[in-house]
Amino acid sequence: MNEKRSVYSTAYRTGRVGALRATDVGTQVTLGGWVHRSRNLGGLVFIDLRDIDGIVQVAFGTDWAAASVLAMAAAVGVESVVLVEGTVVARSDSTKNPEMGTGDIEVHATAMRVLGPAVTPAIPVARGKGEKMAAEELRLRHRHLDLRRPELQANLVLRHRLMQTTRAYLSERGYLELETPVLTKPTPEGARDYLVPSRVHPGEFYALPQSPQIYKQLFMVSGFDRYFQIARCFRDEDLRADRQPEFTQIDIEASFVSQDDILALAEGLIVSLWREAGFDIPSVFPRMTYAAAMERYGCDRPDLRYGLEIVDYTDAFREVAFNISQAAIDAGGRVRGIIVPGGAVWSRKQVDEVEALAKDAGAGGLLRLRRLDGKLDGPLAKFVDGVGAFDALPDGALMLFVAGSDRVSNPALDRARQECARRLAIVRDDDRQFVIVTDFPMFERDPATGALAAVHHPFTAALAADVAAHPDHPERWRAQAYDVVLNGTELGGGSIRTHDPVTQSHMFDLLGIGDREEQERRFGFLLEALRSGAPPHGGVAFGFDRIAMLLSGAPSLRDVIAFPKTTAARALFEQAPTRVPAADLKDLHIRSDES
Ligand code: AMO
Repeated sequence: MNEKRSVYSTAYRTGRVGALRATDVGTQVTLGGWVHRSRNLGGLVFIDLRDIDGIVQVAFGTDWAAASVLAMAAAVGVESVVLVEGTVVARSDSTKNPEMGTGDIEVHATAMRVLGPAVTPAIPVARGKGEKMAAEELRLRHRHLDLRRPELQANLVLRHRLMQTTRAYLSERGYLELETPVLTKPTPEGARDYLVPSRVHPGEFYALPQSPQIYKQLFMVSGFDRYFQIARCFRDEDLRADRQPEFTQIDIEASFVSQDDILALAEGLIVSLWREAGFDIPSVFPRMTYAAAMERYGCDRPDLRYGLEIVDYTDAFREVAFNISQAAIDAGGRVRGIIVPGGAVWSRKQVDEVEALAKDAGAGGLLRLRRLDGKLDGPLAKFVDGVGAFDALPDGALMLFVAGSDRVSNPALDRARQECARRLAIVRDDDRQFVIVTDFPMFERDPATGALAAVHHPFTAALAADVAAHPDHPERWRAQAYDVVLNGTELGGGSIRTHDPVTQSHMFDLLGIGDREEQERRFGFLLEALRSGAPPHGGVAFGFDRIAMLLSGAPSLRDVIAFPKTTAARALFEQAPTRVPAADLKDLHIRSDES
């Protein structure tokens, strides 16, 4: 009998189990894997043997295996690691299993060894059809078992392939994969830093990088004109399903580039990643300015899979003697709203639920109008009767308005729009609507303090035309910054940077980052580099975990990160963070209120 060798052949095994096919019938194999399930039918024992490649049915029968081997197969516990030796045999037509890759064959085992016996697993790995998974917390606690699930293994295999695609795509274009430090100085990306105390320098701390932003700019100054890194970033911020405290970016920077150069590279990379996962997408993404996105969708990462666009009805409402809308308009605000086709039949309670979300987002409420059986209806109806703009409202439609400043109406209408789309069931999971949002504002003002903050980060360059037109009004400057958005999720963002040290210092001034001395202390290494001959440069960073999540169809980042944190920023498997002995703290010159 012939024995087939593969790249997976080792001292223990001839290959992996998942690759066995009808063409292997007659070959002698030695296979290692986990006992996925077993069934004992008396003179015949079946073990489903699993490895990362798949599952194969191993049969132990009295016709070909010794009684002692059968007894061992019957006794071995699920999730034990075993080595089986046997012959690949064709299954009879009636026992073929088309749902398994290996379903045309089985292995008739003649020998078996238990290499790693397993205690009863704390959570099941094999699941019957329709059987529920263990609770997520329990699965994270026993992540080594959870990671045996074929779904999670497939996600991590895809993650690996996406990394290789990234490396190939960028390397082919002359981008060098360069590493930057993890023990570093704070880089402002808008979140809190994770700090690491220095033992040898009492009272001093490193920061874990929120991104490699400054280092990648330093590479440009040093002449490495095309850089990338699959970089781990750390941000101590409130977590959501699409955020982790520790996450991975595809980080890119290049010199002598325009915004369009970076965006063309970004589009190409996204196309190749989507192709790797089996999806063909257009090679050029539509562009939309930040201002247009806010006006039409109320947010800077619009979901373009559906319409329900926001429309400005302020002019129409000027003719409407309704005090809420009048007061808003008199105060310099606007009345904007969405038309929800078919929404007229929603119950008051249903509309109240949409309104609750808009209120949550900061609006006082939603003004409602609907046309049912040809007639306008709702609290506004008698006020708008005869106003031309509302005659056009189609039958069966509901209109929802927010009156007030854009600062209030944008997030409220964004929320209402998303919720209405969900309720109308018009959002298709298999639709992929990419959009590149450009022309972000440079700064936003803190409504409480009036202080300016960078919308992207302090190293972003402003649009020269805006600076020239409004030299004393930085809040009117737009940035050379851009985001790549898919179906309402921000995949990545970047900007062209300020490479002139004087302009960079001025940015720090505007942002209130201390006096010049303080600026030198915090960012002197960047300013010094910019003074040493800096090329124009820019870049982008993509959230790698988010991309892996979307491409694997997983509902959460935790399903594409091997050892993720919970939403409470805990690692349940290895139990971090932990308290440390007082002596260790003392070595680090730290006193804790908690200990
Ligand atoms: P930014 O802060 O926009 O830009 O981050 C880039 C991308 O990283 C992803 N991301 C996250 N993913 C998971 N968990 C998080 N907590 C998290 N935070 C961000 C997002 C985001 O679009 N230095 C700049 C890039 C540049 O200017 O080149 C930066 O970090 O997908």
